Amino acid sequence: MNITIIGTGYVGLVSGACFSEFGFNVTCIDKDKNKIDSLQNGIIPIYEPSLEDLVKKNMIAKRLSFSTSLINVFKDSDAIFIAVGTPTNPNSNNADLKYVYNVIREIADLIDIKDSPKLIVTKSTVPVGTGKDLESYILNYRKELKIVKNFDIASNPEFLREGSAIEDFMRPDRVICGVESEFAKSILNTLYRPLNLRETPILFSKRETAEFIKYASNGFLATKITFINEMADICEKVGADVQDVAKGIGLDGRIGSKFLHPGPGFGGSCFPKDTRALAEIGKEFGARTSLIETVIKVNEARKINMVKKIKKAINFIENKTIAVLGITFKPNTDDMRESPALVIVPELLKVAKYINVYDPIGMNNAKNMSEFKGVRWKENTFSCIENTDAIVIITEWNEFRALDLNKVKECLNEPIIIDLRNIYKHDSMKEAGIKYISVGRGDI
Ligand SMILES: NC(=O)c1ccc[n+]([C@@H]2O[C@H](COP(=O)([O-])OP(=O)(O)OC[C@H]3O[C@@H](n4cnc5c(N)ncnc54)[C@H](O)[C@@H]3O)[C@@H](O)[C@H]2O)c1
Repeated sequence: MNITIIGTGYVGLVSGACFSEFGFNVTCIDKDKNKIDSLQNGIIPIYEPSLEDLVKKNMIAKRLSFSTSLINVFKDSDAIFIAVGTPTNPNSNNADLKYVYNVIREIADLIDIKDSPKLIVTKSTVPVGTGKDLESYILNYRKELKIVKNFDIASNPEFLREGSAIEDFMRPDRVICGVESEFAKSILNTLYRPLNLRETPILFSKRETAEFIKYASNGFLATKITFINEMADICEKVGADVQDVAKGIGLDGRIGSKFLHPGPGFGGSCFPKDTRALAEIGKEFGARTSLIETVIKVNEARKINMVKKIKKAINFIENKTIAVLGITFKPNTDDMRESPALVIVPELLKVAKYINVYDPIGMNNAKNMSEFKGVRWKENTFSCIENTDAIVIITEWNEFRALDLNKVKECLNEPIIIDLRNIYKHDSMKEAGIKYISVGRGDI
């Protein structure tokens, strides 16, 4: 089976590497020549644990290759995955499908009725009805294909999480396949057969259902995070500890413990744009979701509320130097898209004397972003916190979790830590004599 993946970003590259690890022949295509040049030279353009080894191993085995050109591989492809970005359309808040349509136009030009049938699969997160629209687009553009239709379009949304993407792809909770034909079903069944060994549920549904499952999943998870964030606010007022509350409610099998970690608001490349798109889908089809619309508003406000929390904790902030630890939207990724740090750091830059920033992986991407103009970039945790007045932890990288607190205290002119991820225990901060402000647990 020959697979082509168009769009070699977080999803495309991980999917390509994993499908090749399953034993399929995979070509990953990207229009970004620098990216493809790097990959051909064994340089991985994104940070994702274990990805480099997997890519190199499968390149050596000649199951995985990279190209900027679809033409050379299209004819022999059995399945063509579309994994390009679907960011928010700045004019409508809906998903912007321009990259998807650029790809479908290219595919429409290349389909040849003499070739073996092709399954086109949308792995990108796309609004409900996109698969049907893409199919109509091809059929209207290439009318002869209405008579000999040797292609089909399926939906196979991706649920991997950055930071654990390989593990998520290889051992998913489920695989969702939206199909309209036996041909599509049989190709996807073959592609995901390696997961049968682990008895991974593979759910086949209508194409529209699969497309919607992705938005409904992200809508639910974003709501769960927002829920615990609001519970954290109440905990601060009533003297409860949100960590214990999360544990207490999470032990209820109907609720579950995951995604109950309070913090500075959700960010990243998916939840913000997918909740916005979900709200737009609701509006467009006359079934508004006030719940998701509220989640979006509450999450935006949360980032600003974190700035207020920091300002309140640091007296005479205008004379102070703040050390920011972690700026990516979560640990183990270099992805800066919609990270809460993109709101928090610029607000702090307006009021504090200096802002030092250190992130183990995210700084390369962030250094060119206007939001960080004026910060002082640091090489490691201790050079970041040395001679500062307060530490703000925005991202819970492992290397921040067990700092020597006595050493930390020595670095700080005023020992204050504002921990927006609750990675420390009150007792250890008390013992070290550090003023500690966290989320939903009361301050010490
Ligand atoms: N990142 C995630 O964690 C994640 C998880 C699940 C689903 N998704 C969804 O997967 C899709 C891709 O997300 P991503 O984060 O991998 O995006 P990305 O921005 O990392 O990668 C997209 C890639 O597509 C390339 N591209 C754009 N147009 C192209 C074209 N015409 N031909 C060839 N290449 C082209 C870009 O150069 C880029 O390298 C999105 O719809 C996203 O919502 C992402």
